[in-house]
Amino acid sequence: MKKHSPVSRSGRFKGGPDADVAQFTESISFDWRLWRHDLAGSLAHAAMLRKIGVLSRSEAAAIERGLHAIAREIQQGKFRWKPELEDVHMNLEAELTRRVPAGAKLHTGRSRNDQVALDLRLWLREEILLLLGEIADLQRALVSLGEANATVVIPGYTHLQRAQPVYLAHHLLAYAEMLERDNERLWDGWSRVNVCPLGSGALAGSTLKLDRGFVAKQLGFTDLDGKPRLTQNSMDAVSDRDFAVEFCAAATLLAVHLSRLAEDLILWASAEFHFIRIADAYTTGSSLMPQKKNPDVAELIRGKAGRVLGNLVGLLTLLKGLPMTYNRDLQEDKEQLFDTADTVRASTRLMAAMLRHTKVNQTACRAAASDPALLATDLADYLVRKGMPFRQAHHAVGSVVALAEKLGLPLNRLTLAQLRSVNPFFGRDALVVFDLKRAMARRNLPGAPGTKEVVRQLAAWRKKLSR
Ligand code: ARG
Repeated sequence: MKKHSPVSRSGRFKGGPDADVAQFTESISFDWRLWRHDLAGSLAHAAMLRKIGVLSRSEAAAIERGLHAIAREIQQGKFRWKPELEDVHMNLEAELTRRVPAGAKLHTGRSRNDQVALDLRLWLREEILLLLGEIADLQRALVSLGEANATVVIPGYTHLQRAQPVYLAHHLLAYAEMLERDNERLWDGWSRVNVCPLGSGALAGSTLKLDRGFVAKQLGFTDLDGKPRLTQNSMDAVSDRDFAVEFCAAATLLAVHLSRLAEDLILWASAEFHFIRIADAYTTGSSLMPQKKNPDVAELIRGKAGRVLGNLVGLLTLLKGLPMTYNRDLQEDKEQLFDTADTVRASTRLMAAMLRHTKVNQTACRAAASDPALLATDLADYLVRKGMPFRQAHHAVGSVVALAEKLGLPLNRLTLAQLRSVNPFFGRDALVVFDLKRAMARRNLPGAPGTKEVVRQLAAWRKKLSR
């Protein structure tokens, strides 16, 4: 059986682990993507070691050159990752040391435990910003679709039953609101990612005079005043993955919002609703039924929310029984974290692109919104304006609905005499209630789907998102 001899086993161990063990324990196959962050951390650490005199000027310069050369090779796809070196940290350090003897000093006062915590934080800090960009773009796509169909009214639903009319834009802006809360949650979490753990060592810091503040500043772990933000407990710092859990939780809620939007689009694209047409590029055909056009992108966005939720539960489960401090279990955090980040970013991006390639079928929307039953509540409000207590008005309109059903007539086709036969409060102006345009103009409470209010909301979103 092939034997390996990774760096971490030198000295204490005779020979390397069994090949099967090496394969079981390696993380390079997925943590290689942290290479830029690992190199950035090493550059900052080396600069600090130079500052405190552990490295000579020429040693620091050689290490810097060596790290930059490795970065170039990775970028060009020329770097050979060695699984027997276990992870990204040891691959980079071993290669550096092979080229630059002073590389052997780089790990002074550092452990892979604080190193991996650092790399993850550096990586996630970037990842969150990229995701925030995609979220803003999706909000823009929602606003654009609303603006392009600003006069379109559809039924709003509760229990998936027609309830009251709303502007399509109002429905779309509901998702802009959800996404805004996702944005706030991710930002809030970002501030807890942005804390530097380096200098925590394996678990107990170092006896050397490391300058933690210097490293933190080099890597941008600073507050608004430019002061370094440092983890305050070395044991917590090497085993804390709260920042990853928070991200996965915020990302899961985002994925759930995307999933709900996907579900709406899937319903709207069905022949039963027919409110929208998703461009061919975002749908697929059936291998059997020639007429089919399936909203697969939306369905996959809905489906992927499941695995994002699974990652969150997996991560929490991973953490719940861990004794202090670092345990190798923590290596299992990465695939779940990476998968969540990749999945929500792609889902958000594709949702925005799909919306930009979606046309609203205004005729079908108009037909659905013209259902006079949607204005039954407006008729009750009419009676309230005439002085009737709402409970009675609700009952009276209920009787009107029953009468219309019995006569097989739409609500707005009843005569004044028929309305009065139910209740004498109904006057000549009662049927005006069914004028949809007027009905929409009346709904102008803040946050309501009224004509003026929705225009105001669209403009406010447009302004907010142009920043
Ligand atoms: N590959 C490890 C991880 O991802 C890096 C830290 C390893 N530390 C250790 N003491 N074995 O968690």
